[in-house]
Amino acid sequence: MIRSKSDSMASILATDTPELFTAAVVQAAALLREGQVVAVPTETVYGLAANAFNATAVARIFEVKGRPSHNPIIVHVSGTDMARQCVMDWPETARELARHFWPGPLTMVLPRSAIVPDIVTAGGPTVGIRWPQHPFMQAVIQACGFPLAAPSANPSNRISPTNARHVAESLGRRIPLIVDGGASEVGIESTVVDLTSGRPKILRPGMISASEIMACVSTKEPASLAREPDRATSHLKSPGMLKKHYSPKSKMVLCRWRDEEDLRRRVVALGVHPDRVHILAYERIPTDPKWASVHRLPGDPKNYARRFYAALHAVDLPETQLILVEAVPDDETWSAVADRLRRAAAQEGGSVLT
Ligand code: TXA
Ligand code: MG
Repeated sequence: MIRSKSDSMASILATDTPELFTAAVVQAAALLREGQVVAVPTETVYGLAANAFNATAVARIFEVKGRPSHNPIIVHVSGTDMARQCVMDWPETARELARHFWPGPLTMVLPRSAIVPDIVTAGGPTVGIRWPQHPFMQAVIQACGFPLAAPSANPSNRISPTNARHVAESLGRRIPLIVDGGASEVGIESTVVDLTSGRPKILRPGMISASEIMACVSTKEPASLAREPDRATSHLKSPGMLKKHYSPKSKMVLCRWRDEEDLRRRVVALGVHPDRVHILAYERIPTDPKWASVHRLPGDPKNYARRFYAALHAVDLPETQLILVEAVPDDETWSAVADRLRRAAAQEGGSVLT
């Protein structure tokens, strides 16, 4: 049975005892075997999973998310043997990167094998593969015996979910089951690296940085890694890197301020009343009670990434006029966070103030 939009709310299964965990694995695997979609926790963000070898099941992911058919989906595996089934060839670079970073928040793009249906790769010759670290993902893929195609479990172009409630609020009525595996540890999507040209190239920055990747491939491929996504072509190679992506519904502006007076002046200049403005800051924390809310985010990139989407979900309310986000430092450790901030602010009406 496939659910329609008018159906009731998804069941939400807890996993915080060994018995509940096992029961959730059994129930999720049964639905996935039937060709249904299930929202699952991963260490990066929650995913909307289906059997990657079942084209009809994967089509349901596109339908539920409203995802354009030209955007390929990452295939999640439970080990390198399963990964190798999905690709034509397993180069030395893939072996090295897998050894260092799998299971974990790294997706490798490689030439696909014939076993992967066209719909997963959007008809293209490559497939993105990731072995996730979250114990539930590992257990459910092993129980299924097939890999899971899974994009982030949000409506297309919206903020990725980092807990089960985020998924329930946006897609809960379109899917039968959400597995609650707690808040995602990493908090932003995986690093996507393209290994198809012999020159590893970052298509989407993530918490595994270009330098870390370079450090483990540099002996074989000196100076060949693009440290930053190639802005001219990356959207063609990775449609998810389109500028307008990962956006809140509300207008979001990224800026720096000297002090609270400076911040107030900037808000007034934007023509917005402070009591409709939510602030996300990590360094210069406003204290005036007039702001709609002030969220203090951690001052280091790892913890900031873990908390950022949840903060954005919390302030992206119908009555919000503006989300003002303090710009983050311009260094490599912050580059994945900075990328998501730029994209979130790139929607209509949003901007980056310098
Ligand atoms: O952390 C993650 O990667 C999460 C969790 C659920 O694993 N997934 C995720 O999927 O973020 P999604 O679909 O929201 O983003 C996947 C990105 C998109 O930008 C997509 O275009 C790109 O990866 N991608 C997938 N397959 C690709 C391929 N064969 N070639 C180039 N880019 C690809
Ligand atoms: Mg996504």
